[in-house]
Amino acid sequence: MRIDIITLLPELLHSPFGHSILKRARDKGLLQVEVHDLRDFGLGRHKQLDDYPYGGGAGMVMMVEPIVECIEALQARHTYDEVIYLTPDGKTFDQPTANLLSMKQNLLLLCGHYKGVDDRVREHFVTMEISIGDYVLSGGELAAAVLVDAIGRLIPGVLGDESSALLDSFQDGLLAPPVYTRPAIFRGWKVPDVLLSGNFPEIEAWRYDQSLLRTRARRPELLQDD
Ligand code: 6GU
Repeated sequence: MRIDIITLLPELLHSPFGHSILKRARDKGLLQVEVHDLRDFGLGRHKQLDDYPYGGGAGMVMMVEPIVECIEALQARHTYDEVIYLTPDGKTFDQPTANLLSMKQNLLLLCGHYKGVDDRVREHFVTMEISIGDYVLSGGELAAAVLVDAIGRLIPGVLGDESSALLDSFQDGLLAPPVYTRPAIFRGWKVPDVLLSGNFPEIEAWRYDQSLLRTRARRPELLQDD
């Protein structure tokens, strides 16, 4: 998979994909992430990227022309399955959306700033609008990093143990069960006996029970069928 990211702050996106699972995905050639500085498409001597909103009001708006020039330059080289605009008024990102996007070949992410982008960009180029939750970030970069992480780890071959993504919280609509490792007793706090029993059907049943209990206690709305 190839993911291109258009941003005003490329520095913010240099570190997040250089570690752990995503680093391995890139090293294996399963994931390619390219960050593009929108400033390169800024207008005039000052490389202008934003301007005052028509109709007045506080804040600046990202101009249509630099964004369209940048998107079209990329579209000339790649065919994108989705052009995704990261914005607090987008659809809330979730695991089903991550699963869906992990099956695509080419994604283009556009990070918003200020009051957002001139709406003509959304109308004519953007195919999906995604938020990562009901709070406001100062820009779309951290949201883009969240998407790349959630999507990248689902690409087949990225996780060593293929089953481990399937056992994630949310993957079956439930929270994950508690986990433990050595020592079996620490300060008198014992690991549940069943996990040391070697009885795998019983362990599976216990884990499922714990998932249900946790979900009911912490996120009951996940159990409501819709
Ligand atoms: Cl995608 N962008 C910004 N600026 N704030 C957000 C967000 C995105 N998702 C949640 N808050």
